[in-house]
Amino acid sequence: MSEKKKNSVNAEDLEILGEEGKQYVEIDGVKIRLARPMDLPFKWVGNRKLVDQMKSCWFTAGPGDLPMSPRLVGKPGTGKTVLAYSVGKMMEVPVFFFQATSDTRPNDVLINTVIIETGAETSKVEYFASTLISAMILGGVCVFDEGNRMQEKAWASLAPLLDSRRYIESIEVGCLIKAHPNFRFVSTMNDDASCFELPEYIKSRLQPTIMVDNPDRSEERRILEANLPHTAPIILDYVADFLELAHRADERYTVREGIHIANYAGKLVNYEAECGREMDPGDAVIISVEQILGVRQARYIKRVLWEERAA
Ligand SMILES: Nc1ncnc2c1ncn2[C@@H]1O[C@H](COP(=O)(O)OP(=O)(O)O)[C@@H](O)[C@H]1O
Ligand SMILES: [Mg+2]
Repeated sequence: MSEKKKNSVNAEDLEILGEEGKQYVEIDGVKIRLARPMDLPFKWVGNRKLVDQMKSCWFTAGPGDLPMSPRLVGKPGTGKTVLAYSVGKMMEVPVFFFQATSDTRPNDVLINTVIIETGAETSKVEYFASTLISAMILGGVCVFDEGNRMQEKAWASLAPLLDSRRYIESIEVGCLIKAHPNFRFVSTMNDDASCFELPEYIKSRLQPTIMVDNPDRSEERRILEANLPHTAPIILDYVADFLELAHRADERYTVREGIHIANYAGKLVNYEAECGREMDPGDAVIISVEQILGVRQARYIKRVLWEERAA
């Protein structure tokens, strides 16, 4: 290894230049453009315990007490992304998203260089901080979404950031950047076969594991209502019953599909009403399930309706 001495900067000592939306910092004369935080209409409904566990991970009792970087694990659609984002917002700091994919390269998670043509034969290099680096510099939350879609070589550069060192090393800028004390990290992970198994040294840094499971019926009913304020209550009831039966039968689908089903069923009924016709809400939910999950899955909703009519 070369003996070249590495400069090191503390993110909290950096001056944030530029205006909102076009912020940058200068490190050793290199200008680095920061990414923008996300503002989304997500709001977590229900399970307080998960919120408290996330907040506990990120809580620090004083200087020297470091936050933890949990991973949220569960089936696709159980609410991991919404949970991570909502808790970040509750902390009243900027929240950044990083969407991991199997194509994410090591540089994508750190600082990217972009070559910009400035004339016929001239060009210059500009540096763009990833959302992760921007969160580290500004003291925000980074929601590293679907982290187990990303390959090990991209994770490797994050190892020092996720342990007590809390820094990353940028080859581009030639220095170590130490995270702002308010920087917080969480990674969501889908529990499905399309993902990579993370290496042990990364897993051991992403602790604890918070499992996000299907909520119970009353909570799921509230989630449907919060996401679909224009849908008739009876449709939300049917879909909550449908999901409850499907979960009991260990089907893979979650409240995410429930939202699509209730949304479509509600639109069928509302549109028919608009045309001066009438559609039975139960029938609308059957059609919706058939078109969203397939004909076979409609047996659960048919059972719900049959039991209701028999009662
Ligand atoms: N507890 C919850 N509160 C509010 N919305 C939720 C909740 N759980 C799930 N949702 C909704 O369900 C959908 C799937 O949630 P998402 O966070 O994307 O799941 P995941 O990241 O686990 O795949 C989103 O549309 C979200 O709005
Ligand atoms: Mg997600």
